[in-house]
Amino acid sequence: MMKMLSQSPARNVFISAGLFFLLLAFSVPAAGTEQDPEPKRQRELIHLLVQDCGSCHGLTLKGGLGPALLPQDLEGKDNEYLSEVILEGVPGTPMPPWNVEITENEVRWLVRRMKEGEINDR
Ligand code: HEC
Repeated sequence: MMKMLSQSPARNVFISAGLFFLLLAFSVPAAGTEQDPEPKRQRELIHLLVQDCGSCHGLTLKGGLGPALLPQDLEGKDNEYLSEVILEGVPGTPMPPWNVEITENEVRWLVRRMKEGEINDR
């Protein structure tokens, strides 16, 4: 009886730890892979970039109220910085935050596309 009582909590801990590491093993690769948005969503994001962002940054992203966003303007700028600016906006300037419309993963994809250039909204 004494033995049972002292063993079972230890076994529960052992099982919980096992489950924990099993979950960890599954969740780490899932979090590490960056999936491109679905093709339909990609078209929506490009449409947003040209129409909405374009209203300030120029329909061809050559600049307007907001600075130019062409590959030569963005090269050398950190993807994390650019994603942050787009998601959070720039307080005190007309640049609004987009984190309601666009997810972090989508913004990273968009930044990669912007750096590649040749943006066509069709
Ligand atoms: C209402 C006007 C407006 C809209 C709409 C807008 N922006 Fe901006 N954006 C600005 C302004 C103004 C700045 C410059 C802010 C500053 O002074 O730092 C800016 C800055 C930026 C920057 C930083 C550029 C750099 O070189 O540091 C990026 C990137 C950017 N915008 C991307 C976007 C994207 C992507 C969208 C659409 C999802 C968007 N903007 C929509 C006005 C706008």
